[in-house]
Amino acid sequence: MADDLSSSTPRKLRSRAWFDDPSHADMTALYLERYMNFGLSLEELQSGKPIIGIAQTGSDLSPCNRHHLVLAERIREGIREAGGIVLEFPVHPIQETGKRPTAGLDRNLSYMGLVELLFGYPLDGVVLTTGCDKTTPACLMAAATVNIPAIALSVGPMLNGYFKGQRTGSGTIVWHARELLAEGEIDYKEFIKMVSSSAPSTGYCNTMGTATTMNSLTEALGMSLPGQAAIPAPYRDRQEAAYLTGKQIVEMVAADRKPSDILTREAFINAIRVNSAIGGSTNAPIHLNALARHMGVELTIDDWQTYGREIPLLVNLQPAGEYLGEDYYRAGGVPAIVAELMKQGLIHEDALTANGQTMGDNCREAEIENDKVIRPFEQALTPSAGFSVLRGNLFNSAIMKLSVISKEFRERYLSNPDDPEAFEGPVIVFDGPEEYHAKIDDPDLGVTEKTLLIMRGAGPNGYPGAAEVVNMRPSAELLKKGIHALPCIGDGRQSGTSGSPSILNASPEAASGGNLAILQTGDVVRVDLRKGTVNMLVSDEEIARRRKELDEKGGYPFPASQTPWQELQRSVMGELESGAVMEPAVKYQRIAQT
Ligand code: FES
Ligand code: MG
Repeated sequence: MADDLSSSTPRKLRSRAWFDDPSHADMTALYLERYMNFGLSLEELQSGKPIIGIAQTGSDLSPCNRHHLVLAERIREGIREAGGIVLEFPVHPIQETGKRPTAGLDRNLSYMGLVELLFGYPLDGVVLTTGCDKTTPACLMAAATVNIPAIALSVGPMLNGYFKGQRTGSGTIVWHARELLAEGEIDYKEFIKMVSSSAPSTGYCNTMGTATTMNSLTEALGMSLPGQAAIPAPYRDRQEAAYLTGKQIVEMVAADRKPSDILTREAFINAIRVNSAIGGSTNAPIHLNALARHMGVELTIDDWQTYGREIPLLVNLQPAGEYLGEDYYRAGGVPAIVAELMKQGLIHEDALTANGQTMGDNCREAEIENDKVIRPFEQALTPSAGFSVLRGNLFNSAIMKLSVISKEFRERYLSNPDDPEAFEGPVIVFDGPEEYHAKIDDPDLGVTEKTLLIMRGAGPNGYPGAAEVVNMRPSAELLKKGIHALPCIGDGRQSGTSGSPSILNASPEAASGGNLAILQTGDVVRVDLRKGTVNMLVSDEEIARRRKELDEKGGYPFPASQTPWQELQRSVMGELESGAVMEPAVKYQRIAQT
């Protein structure tokens, strides 16, 4: 740890250009005087000590991250003790469960706002307070673009939820309770009681949803202290991690250890493998591909299959398994998983991490503390638990999360001895989630157990922002017959807390020229998981005819934007397979380098 940077750092910190530049004395005076108006002294600001930002994502609007308002006190203590000066500032909030029409709109907005703050203010390093789904990638993406020393601190998951003695996991209980409500098994009051039981404390989703996934992967990338991702929000260990993270960022500034030193291709491959082992969210490829693009690292959707598909599922957390966040932490969290993968030679051990040590050194000694929750490699829950990348005449790519294919689904769709990994059936097409909700229980719709449900108009431009709506429950009638899952295909996303065996993130989306736009209810679609293909069994001539007809009508129609940001983002946003980034933003790389 660097205690006295004024004497030990010959390198000029970027904050000096604001606070200590005699050649621009008039500007320096102006910058200085207003930072003194809440009590910072001239001596502090001109001491040469590093100015450390705390990028605060917590607020009343974002309950998942709200506990960062408390943790920030301990981050401050760590920064101060290590010799830094703190400037805490707000980041545009993103609450997954609160933002309408979808939080998917806000990742890039939050990213862009944070880039401006990190670039335009006197910050030498930053603590990124991560948590709820998109807050984590938004922060990491901004740190990558600006490329000043940065370290993430997760807010941590909520405590385990329980209902009548059973663990109730965030999101996952909602999908289950919705079915019970549709079947008439429970009433509205009971429904709310079940769902709220899953949120017993401060923190984010306690399942292996997108939040736990993204914070685990942040640690696997090396962008946080080892072992911190899984600590539940209210635990004392979380407070200690906040303090240690504050101390660490000051050392990182002294060492000039930047995101570009940590976020290498090897680090991303480590993260892809950890993602399969934890049963990570289908949002992970979107966010990590986006991060790689802003960092200037080559990473494609196919890398997820190449490096991730064959990795087995080791973590027994809902929705793929049984347990929840507290169990995950007590079983050893990310270091135990990395250590297990290391024994198989599946981790790039030399990858540098935030604390200056390698991934190998951080995790080598870690052990599984409860093998019901984290399984040893030899006793994995499911083999080949990563994502399958599928393509065909409907889209260039879509993914399927193999760890959540249920026994029921396997028996019904994948048990044909002649063709064990293929299925086909007539489709019913929905244009957006509103149409699905209005029609799914209509007996005239003709849903049967052979139906494939299609969701289109739900991608980054169509919705806009890409809604988490591809996981569609079957009709109430089928649910009553005991059929809980139909194959779903769509150009939207789905919640990381969903166990639905969907084929999703289809790119290009219907609204951007993808062929989901010309699929019609009644067409037959064939899925072959072994070959990695999804095709509509429609002739090439008919496809060309429908395409021409649609193009003549001006393409796939999508709803008008409701806000200025929706319109602006739509004009620059790419496909889910390549991270759904704002394409013109990608050329701005490492912009703080002088
Ligand atoms: Fe915020 Fe799940 S809703 S983490
Ligand atoms: Mg989500």
